[in-house]
Amino acid sequence: MSAPVTIRDLMTDSDLFGQQFGVDSWSAWRALLAAFYGLQLSKAEQGVVEALTGRHAPPEAASEELWLVMGRRGGKSQAAGLLAVYEACFNDHRDKLSPGEVATVMVLAADRKQAKVVFRYISGLLNGNPMLKRLIVREDKETIELNNRCVIEVTTASFRSVRGYTVAAVIADEIAFWRSDESANPDTEILRALRPAMATLRGKLIALSSPYSKRGALWNTYRRHFGKASPVLVAQAPTLTMNPTLPDKLVADALEDDASAAKAEYLAEFRDDLEQFITREVVEAAVRTSPLELPFNRAHRYHAFVDPAGGGQDEFCIAIGHHEDEAIVVDVVRARRGTPAEIVAGYASLLASYRIKQVTGDKYAGSWPADEFKKHGIDYHPSEQPKSGLYLDLLPALTSGRVELPPDTRLINQISGLERRTSRAGRDSIDHGPGGHDDRANVVAGLVTTKHKSRYDLERLVNGDPVQRTETSKPIAAIKAAGIPL
Ligand SMILES: Nc1ncnc2c1ncn2[C@@H]1O[C@H](COP(=O)(O)OP(=O)(O)O)[C@@H](O)[C@H]1O
Ligand SMILES: [Mg+2]
Repeated sequence: MSAPVTIRDLMTDSDLFGQQFGVDSWSAWRALLAAFYGLQLSKAEQGVVEALTGRHAPPEAASEELWLVMGRRGGKSQAAGLLAVYEACFNDHRDKLSPGEVATVMVLAADRKQAKVVFRYISGLLNGNPMLKRLIVREDKETIELNNRCVIEVTTASFRSVRGYTVAAVIADEIAFWRSDESANPDTEILRALRPAMATLRGKLIALSSPYSKRGALWNTYRRHFGKASPVLVAQAPTLTMNPTLPDKLVADALEDDASAAKAEYLAEFRDDLEQFITREVVEAAVRTSPLELPFNRAHRYHAFVDPAGGGQDEFCIAIGHHEDEAIVVDVVRARRGTPAEIVAGYASLLASYRIKQVTGDKYAGSWPADEFKKHGIDYHPSEQPKSGLYLDLLPALTSGRVELPPDTRLINQISGLERRTSRAGRDSIDHGPGGHDDRANVVAGLVTTKHKSRYDLERLVNGDPVQRTETSKPIAAIKAAGIPL
């Protein structure tokens, strides 16, 4: 029997991928991947591996997991493709498979576009090599089946994609950017769901990502294993170390443009200007068990906040709520995609059923929401506060237990997915993370904080605060006319 093909052979042999990966610019990658599979390293490679992994010595045997924290355009997706091909073609699992069972090399990407990029790399590598091309039995948009009972699957990271497989290897591309409306921690949870599927074949886990904030699976693994002797090999490298062909100027310009973002994107440093804005525990403590929506009750006065969306991917959202003593109860949160006029018509009848005649909404939406709601006899008032301001006011209301939220998973995930970014100028901004959404969080924040304001004005008016009163007081009649509940 001939010696098994190593990752180094695959990258250097001219009958395999030597032409592409055997050149100088891929030398850091060759050293790292050889170290991952426990191969002999040259002195120079040992130096590279020690520098990139923060270890005193390269691992002595193959590692179980490889986590690469690397800059954008550093060759991560290409390497992911190469590793998928290696694991599928050169790691024979047949003796461990039951009759009819296939081994899956699963490549998970942050979104469809990135999944396509990796799939193209894989398909290109296999189809471009006459020897490997012969292994292909079937190829469709995201699957390549080989004649050795191995299948390569490239999909977006989701819970749906990970069930029911026997997994030979998991390759997680850009894991720091995996997002899901169904979970606040899709990276950790998807990996957890996959581990049993990997157990029979002792499958390898390979994660490659640019870093993002100091949260999530990438950060936790980095913190636990970087620089330590462990079966989990972690490396960190700026783009130019891994891909010296990238023009320096591109990195220099990006750093000048937005240093915090570029340090993460190209220098592979985790960002410390970002933190979770509201913890999941605080949000969950505010959630009622049921029902999802509370029906109209004539004892209450209701008000509403909307976040219009003009079609496309964003959701057009509405929240309806009322006061109970010091607390604000969020009765209804709805989100719809589709024709704005139809959504407004639907929301207008919902508002009517709660006897609401006016709504507050996003002020950047332009004039169409006001015109559209007017057609149904509802006044639309643009919110005075920008989104960040609404969130800043939502935080104390939630932490002090003054808000009751509906048991809406997406809403909970959106609120706990909000990020606070501190800028050097001292102005914090709060928004969803990359690829995330916050439409539902936005309407709830608007509802909770807008109501606060009107109540505050009212209290000042009723209790008589003479200093303030001269600045802000309005006749009760005007408040009534504006529809602010007394
Ligand atoms: N070490 C390298 N040597 C030469 N070209 C590289 C190297 N790494 C990446 N590239 C090229 O840079 C581009 C981006 O690579 P990709 O794998 O998509 O990067 P990433 O996923 O890290 O953003 C591709 O065109 C790739 O061929
Ligand atoms: Mg990539």
